[in-house]
Amino acid sequence: MSEGQYAVEFKNLSKTFGTSKILHDLNFGIHRGKITTILGFSGAGKTTLMKHILGLVPPTEGEVIVLDTVVNKLGELELREFRRNFGMVFQYAALFDFLTSFENVAFPLREFTKMTEEEITKKVMDLLESTGISKEAAYRLPSQLSGGMRKRVGLARGLALDPHIMLYDEPTSGLDPITTHMVYDLMRDTQKKNEARGFTSIIISHDIHATLKYSDYIVFMEQGRVVEHLDVATFKKSENPVIRRFLEL
Ligand SMILES: Nc1ncnc2c1ncn2[C@@H]1O[C@H](COP(=O)(O)OP(=O)(O)OP(=O)(O)O)[C@@H](O)[C@H]1O
Ligand SMILES: [Mg+2]
Repeated sequence: MSEGQYAVEFKNLSKTFGTSKILHDLNFGIHRGKITTILGFSGAGKTTLMKHILGLVPPTEGEVIVLDTVVNKLGELELREFRRNFGMVFQYAALFDFLTSFENVAFPLREFTKMTEEEITKKVMDLLESTGISKEAAYRLPSQLSGGMRKRVGLARGLALDPHIMLYDEPTSGLDPITTHMVYDLMRDTQKKNEARGFTSIIISHDIHATLKYSDYIVFMEQGRVVEHLDVATFKKSENPVIRRFLEL
């Protein structure tokens, strides 16, 4: 595994869909062992950038390097193995509706490991406990859980394979402010618990206030370009007019 400064590096990365250039010659690294938030207005290219990290979209030009692997050189089979490095939590928790919390979290373990039923039960219950889901809620269906609890289950499932990198694409949209903070607390706790092994969290967000409170680094994107990439304290003092506008919203 990578021991370098960066978990992810973009080198001269450009992406064009049809005739629109969506990402413009990006060159930067995402710090290993930290929380980095990618901020920007709608359509800035944040999700497209995240898809490049997972090898879901090939670059038009340049390279994406994740944990010392050049992602865009991997074949389909290698990509499948490579994606085990990641846990993902998306906007709508994206749980399987027909499976209980327990079975949702067990799913990746059944799919990707040879763990016994006993080992799976122990791991799933530990994960659910660490994300604040009670034993009773473990056997409920997603429809019987609150939005905040579904996020917790989604996070537990994302952590099941002990990923090196967690990717969160707008994990709090649609949640009330209290639940939003609870989810951010949980993301920060998860980061802290796993930090010693170089665990990295990458969050896409619109939520400027939570972002400033919980992140180590901010990447601010506008129209496919990185306007600023700074530690939070320096970001808050940025005099860039685009960022001031965003901060004053
Ligand atoms: N597969 C695709 N084909 C064509 N255009 C695409 C494709 N994926 C994304 N785009 C375009 O790329 C631009 C950036 O999209 P992207 O989803 O990365 O933005 P975003 O920053 O995540 O926005 P949001 O905050 O709304 O989620 C948009 O103009 C979008 O329409
Ligand atoms: Mg998006």
